[in-house]
Amino acid sequence: MNHKNSQTVGIGLIGLGTVGTGVYRVLQGHAASLEKKIGVRFEIRKIAVKNISKKRAVKVPRVLLTQNPQELLDDPKIHIVIELAGGIHPAKEWIERAFAAGKHVVTANKALLAEHGSEIFKAAQRYERRLGFEASVCGGIPIIKSLREGLVSNEISQLLGIVNGTCNFILTAMSEKSIDFLESLAKAQKLGYAEKNPAFDVRGIDSAHKLAILARLAFRQEISFESIAVEGIESLSITDIEYAKELGYAVKLLAIGKKQKEGIELRVHPALLPLDHPLSNVKGVYNAVFVHGDQADDLLFYGRGAGMFPTASAVLSDVVDIVKKIEAGPVDSALSAMLPAGCILPITDLRSRYYLRFQAADKPGVLGRIAQTLGKHHISILSVHQKESENAKSVPVVILTYEASEKDLRNALRTIDAQKDISEKTVVLRVQR
Ligand code: HSE
Repeated sequence: MNHKNSQTVGIGLIGLGTVGTGVYRVLQGHAASLEKKIGVRFEIRKIAVKNISKKRAVKVPRVLLTQNPQELLDDPKIHIVIELAGGIHPAKEWIERAFAAGKHVVTANKALLAEHGSEIFKAAQRYERRLGFEASVCGGIPIIKSLREGLVSNEISQLLGIVNGTCNFILTAMSEKSIDFLESLAKAQKLGYAEKNPAFDVRGIDSAHKLAILARLAFRQEISFESIAVEGIESLSITDIEYAKELGYAVKLLAIGKKQKEGIELRVHPALLPLDHPLSNVKGVYNAVFVHGDQADDLLFYGRGAGMFPTASAVLSDVVDIVKKIEAGPVDSALSAMLPAGCILPITDLRSRYYLRFQAADKPGVLGRIAQTLGKHHISILSVHQKESENAKSVPVVILTYEASEKDLRNALRTIDAQKDISEKTVVLRVQR
């Protein structure tokens, strides 16, 4: 593409779901102002959809629609392909074919980049094409651009994110309105926040996809997706969210990346966060990423992580970026010079504070035995909370621990949960400070 000769940039869109519709609408509604800002006119020349006859939220001239993505990959008048279909296959092949055909690509496909990022990035380099993927992480928040460019001189030691709007929406509703898990999930789906398969959201997989992409840029290292420890929010109960609140904590699904001497910690799990932590106040569908860089120090990125227009905003920022950077040469430094996949520490190497809720018989000696077992495994107790409960055979006993090893904790709980005085599997949540 040489937009100096041709002032019109041809766009091919694959997928016309929530985000695709947003991109279409923005390009229709903001074409003139975009042209004024960057001196280029964008024209959507083809849109590949699964079913042409489907009723849509947006009126699209029939002539633009095709059920065959190859049509737009073969079209020499299309300079940038925007892939919004999602899924690994055939999205991967479409993107590779787009590069081979000399097109630049913008994608929101986090699963693909998390699981096959190095192949896709290598293909972009091989064909000297640009790849924009701002929309793959945190919707409207320009976190990718910040990591690739704004913070390029920093050594990043930590990133901590609330990166799934659906889970944050559910946890906020559970905490503030005592609305149950399924009802909140249905609402998030109706609003277009959830993945096609919402198990990806609530099981933490979507967050792990985003963490893999962020960690790759932050730590400049190839990331093997399978090495990320992932736990979701499906088994969280309002009971624990309320106990946590009483103790001064919010419960959030966190994506955590930390550089340690021995390797990198990468994990996604629900965690207790002190109520005065900036991420505790990130509510509803909002996302936020807290980053620590050696020069910029602490940074907090906050905004809408999903939805039609926030995500369309990220897609369009990539499209404009591609047009602006064509002259900058083919090499995208943020994607090259990655270190090979390094050591990602197993979760059993983790040291953390813990929230434990035992369901214990309310009789003499039970608490003593729990404490003794924890002590035997080098786990020191920070506080103990028990509520009297009338007529109950068992009572919840909540223990907060000082920092302990995950391995020791697992061993201790194996012993404790086997005791006849303990009636349920103990709830374990990590405390992030
Ligand atoms: N399902 C995702 C979320 C959409 O809820 O955050 C944005 O990636």
